[in-house]
Amino acid sequence: MHPTIHGTTMDDKERVERIVEELKLSDVQLRKVMQLLDDEMNKGLCKGTNPNAAIKMFPTYVRSIPDGTEEGNYLALDLGGTNFRVLLIRLNGSEVSMRSKIFLVPNFIMTGTAEELFDHIAECISKFMHEEGIADQKLPLGFTFSFPCKQEGLARARLSQWTKGFKVSGVEGEDIVRLLHEAIERRDDIDVECVAVINDTVGAQISCAHEDRNCQIGLILGTGSNACYMEQLDKVETWDGDERAPRQVIINTEWGAFGDNGVLDFIRTQYDQELDAKFSVNPGKQLYEKMMSGMYLGELARLYLERLVNEGLLFEGQSSDLLSTPGRFYTKYISEIESDKRDDFKNTKSVLEYDLGIENYSNADCHYVQYVCSLVSSRAAHLASCGCAVLLNRVARPSVTIAVDGSLYRFHPKFGDIMEQKVSQLVNKGLKFKIMLSHDGSGKGAALVAAVACRIRDEQKR
Ligand code: GLC
Repeated sequence: MHPTIHGTTMDDKERVERIVEELKLSDVQLRKVMQLLDDEMNKGLCKGTNPNAAIKMFPTYVRSIPDGTEEGNYLALDLGGTNFRVLLIRLNGSEVSMRSKIFLVPNFIMTGTAEELFDHIAECISKFMHEEGIADQKLPLGFTFSFPCKQEGLARARLSQWTKGFKVSGVEGEDIVRLLHEAIERRDDIDVECVAVINDTVGAQISCAHEDRNCQIGLILGTGSNACYMEQLDKVETWDGDERAPRQVIINTEWGAFGDNGVLDFIRTQYDQELDAKFSVNPGKQLYEKMMSGMYLGELARLYLERLVNEGLLFEGQSSDLLSTPGRFYTKYISEIESDKRDDFKNTKSVLEYDLGIENYSNADCHYVQYVCSLVSSRAAHLASCGCAVLLNRVARPSVTIAVDGSLYRFHPKFGDIMEQKVSQLVNKGLKFKIMLSHDGSGKGAALVAAVACRIRDEQKR
């Protein structure tokens, strides 16, 4: 006789299946997600509904894609992903070369004060410029600041709220360009002017558009998740910039906040709720992002694994201290585990033994661990596909390229394939798309937008 649960006879496999079943979303559910997302995007674009909309659909003031004539030397900053980077980028038509340095943003700075954060950033810029021997030059800077910002111009961006584990006081509601310039002035050893602020999604789109003019969408699947796309000005009621051609603007959707008003509750599980309430620093916020980005997927998998252990279905009911520690099952483990060849379990065993200190595991355990990881990541890929299909339908051009970047997409072995397939099923008939990996979008994109900003300024001076 098999073990029983709630009076039903079931073997372990069925019991595992029953616990994780809720992670499988049907096409009917995915289509409903699409409909809701589209509605929420419309609310974000309309003046009357925007103040209460969950998805803010921020106009970016980036209105054209680079034409390949951009040139000169630019500094770029990239804050908001896995690393903080300072870059020096040389543009010469279609040729781009860059040098960069990664700096740490220590935890106390991620949760400290505005002055500490921006002094740290200014110090990193200064160090980099001295090392590169360019400290005496006056260089324009493009800032990829990957958080939701209400822009009032290319070089005016008010942070609306922190996301992804940052919680620096005194920045929300403020213009980050002003904060950066003040920190640079306090040092008084470099002369740098920030001429443009962009989101990382925009960086990805612009840098790909430099090579492929069909690139109308930028997508990030990394620490966080978000997308941007080129929208017609007529549809953007919140636009208050100039009305001249081109009558279009890139919209930073900030879709991570989809669901913050409860509309995704029909698919959120008990563990989505637990992760949000106990693990994240911003409960109730960024609910769509929490179902599909690198900062959270590992923890989500860990919660399911813990449940299986507690039910006696995994590792003979014995967890390890590491597996029981919130945040200690990293999303990169999911990518490693799913990279195993069928039934080989090389990476899975290595993660269990060396990273999590679990010694007693069976082949069946490895199967279950892999299964949980693959369900968590394919749900994420399916949800991201809903977002892409909605944007493709909105752009409604026969052939569109989606630029994508981010550690989750880059390192997961199947994310791209799952998305290609799902987006094809979900998108309106007749629309063709291509997904293109963006390389160094945050740096190159910021430099390209800075170049355009400088050109516009020079034209206006004349
Ligand atoms: C978060 C940020 C957003 C960014 C995304 C990806 O969702 O709010 O601005 O684009 O992460 O980094």
